[in-house]
Amino acid sequence: MSGDALLGVYERDLTVVSGKGAKLFAADGRCYLDFACGVGVNGLGYGDKAVIKAIREQAGKIVHVSNLYHSLPGAELADKLASLAFPSKVFLCNSGTEAVEAALKFARRVGGPGRTEFVAFERGFHGRTMGALSITWNAKYREPFGPLIPGVRFCPWNDLAAAAEAITERTAAVVIETVQGEGGVRPAPVAFLQGLKKLCEERGALFVAEEVQCGLGRTGKLFAYEHAGLAPDLLTLAKPLGGGLPLGAVLIREELAAALHPGDHGSTFGGNPVAAAASLAVLARLTAPGFLDNVTRRGEQLFRGLRALKKKHPQIVDVRGLGLMAGVQFAGGSGDVVKGLRQRDVLATKAGDDVLRLLPPLVVKPGEIKTALEALGAVLEGGAGVAGA
Ligand SMILES: Cc1ncc(COP(=O)(O)O)c(C=O)c1O
Repeated sequence: MSGDALLGVYERDLTVVSGKGAKLFAADGRCYLDFACGVGVNGLGYGDKAVIKAIREQAGKIVHVSNLYHSLPGAELADKLASLAFPSKVFLCNSGTEAVEAALKFARRVGGPGRTEFVAFERGFHGRTMGALSITWNAKYREPFGPLIPGVRFCPWNDLAAAAEAITERTAAVVIETVQGEGGVRPAPVAFLQGLKKLCEERGALFVAEEVQCGLGRTGKLFAYEHAGLAPDLLTLAKPLGGGLPLGAVLIREELAAALHPGDHGSTFGGNPVAAAASLAVLARLTAPGFLDNVTRRGEQLFRGLRALKKKHPQIVDVRGLGLMAGVQFAGGSGDVVKGLRQRDVLATKAGDDVLRLLPPLVVKPGEIKTALEALGAVLEGGAGVAGA
């Protein structure tokens, strides 16, 4: 087994065999502490018993049902999501990019022929299919694949005046990651989110909270928009939703959903019963008493440690994030920091060129955070992340 036939769109040099909690076991015999977490997918870590049980039981009943029929887990999941978020209708799909794609289509359907434009933000990342790519900021991802959908305006982050210029009577939706992930782990300031929501209301555009990465407990609240005390018109979810199985969802406010009719959208695999059953188990864990409080506490521990490292190491220019979604920005890029951590058996990812992104599983233990912080400290002692290094 060489894998040489796999298309070379990913850079990878590690073969993973199994996992337990926050630990990942590789084919080379090493055990890693995983603070990359499948880029946020493995929210409950590896091998969660309730999720595995739900998958096994549902697989024993039926693995696939076409969307010509209901499945019990799919229907139950939609009801559960709507009850946890806001009064809404739910479309189930298979990934983050599909959730965004659906949100764009739904916004145009609601807005009608006069409202075809989208407002998105600098450094925003929304996926790789043509619609989601069109509102993704990084030119490296977008430009080789043009022409993309027209009428997308990118606004600077946290600049309400620029947004006020960009949101017009032609805007179908404003799409914002409540906490930017790929773009450098940037929580949207509460006043910015509230200001955008108000502008949307005034101008008749829809407000889409894009929570594929930051949603579902990652920030210490079930949905990151809750930190701003508002509810969006549409919400996109994916990554941890399926407990490791491919699953995405779009929630659309109930009053708006009347604009969507049979045939307007669809997905052969969307709402797969095994993924939906896993998701119900995930949601039961996330909403169990004390679960999110623990995420908040572990996040505080992580940020305390990161701020202490910032005091000691001038190559750290910023520490930011929310809950267990942390970004550490370096003067000299974060690539060598990620490599150094890997040498010390801690996995993490970059976000952009100069940010180290830490996404431990939500069930991470205090001792595991301590170990990761010590590893980071040792890597920085060695001079990683220094400009010009
Ligand atoms: C905020 C956000 N939106 C959308 C996506 C795309 O999700 P997927 O890779 O499941 O298509 C990602 C993936 O990283 C993401 O972080």
